Amino acid sequence: MDASFASPEPQIICRSFRDAMAGGGSVILHGRPRPDQVQDFARCTASGLEATPRRLECRFLYDSDGSALFEQITQQPEYYLTRTESSILAANAARIRELTGAVTLVELGSGNSEKTDYLLRAWLARAERVCYIPVDVSESALAWACSTIRATHPGVKVIGMNYEYQEVFPLIAQVSPALVMLLGSTIGNLAPAEMSRFLASMAASMTPDDYFLVGVDLVKERSQLEAAYNDAAGVTASFTRNLFARMNRELGCAIDTDAIEHVARYDAVNEQIDIFARFTRQQTFFLAPLGRHLTVGRGEMVQIEISRKFRLEQFVPYLEQFGLAIEGLFTDDRKWCALLLLRRMAG
Ligand SMILES: C[S@@+](CC[C@H](N)C(=O)[O-])C[C@H]1O[C@@H](n2cnc3c(N)ncnc32)[C@H](O)[C@@H]1O
Repeated sequence: MDASFASPEPQIICRSFRDAMAGGGSVILHGRPRPDQVQDFARCTASGLEATPRRLECRFLYDSDGSALFEQITQQPEYYLTRTESSILAANAARIRELTGAVTLVELGSGNSEKTDYLLRAWLARAERVCYIPVDVSESALAWACSTIRATHPGVKVIGMNYEYQEVFPLIAQVSPALVMLLGSTIGNLAPAEMSRFLASMAASMTPDDYFLVGVDLVKERSQLEAAYNDAAGVTASFTRNLFARMNRELGCAIDTDAIEHVARYDAVNEQIDIFARFTRQQTFFLAPLGRHLTVGRGEMVQIEISRKFRLEQFVPYLEQFGLAIEGLFTDDRKWCALLLLRRMAG
């Protein structure tokens, strides 16, 4: 990795984090300075457009407009995921608290933290003071979540971390015993090799006293899956286009977003939804921070996200390869989604 894009030194993050934990109030800690974030976005856009097939990193979907659009997606009638996972949390939050005990809550990719409220209430029912550490690259979603939780639950100490997932893994040991969460089927956005790396790092960062709660979307009918990512109101299509609007705003790209079609289709072999931007006219991306031009031809597709679907009978043994064993399994009546409570196996 180019030194200028390196994440802040783990020791610096750990030190700021220790100070925040020792302090009385709630705070938000920020990672890379803004110019480094823009350079990172430009570099990743160039390498993604030059790759074969062209594929961009989905973390860039979440600027403040993207996070606001994602929140609207979760309210669309076709998008069953958020409602279903909320119902599982509503029914099982107290049981999860019983199983884990009074651990610190750490949430990766926390977004608006709305569903986490079920867990915060279950924790507060058993203790006056609770510590919650949401982690998200979206500064706006994180700020909104932190201020809402502070206003709703004065008993919760909130330390918001505006960082990437892997940057906070070294902090888990500092707050152990902890329940680390990854909800909303966010794990399904990771390609197989990325998911293996993520789980290996997660397992290596956990002590046997920590827990990992992961939400997954289960394999189901193509029609239901494709409807969820092609909502009739067109909000998911706007979410796709916003990635390129963000390039215009932050990188000076000058892309015509009207030349972009949103394509989301189910790949039944790999059991994943593939989301693409298809270009109806040739577009030249000018990446101002790099001084480079890259052209995408008419009819070409750029993959912007995947959303993998899982089968528990395969996923549970797969998790065991990383030393993660099931302590609790929670699903809805229709078996659409699942929450797995995992613990690192001893040895
Ligand atoms: C699919 S949304 C899920 C949000 C929320 N957890 C939910 O269940 O509704 C993914 C969230 O992860 C955040 N995110 C994406 N990539 C990230 C990364 N590499 N590091 C930290 N946060 C990330 C996004 O900003 C977004 O809020």
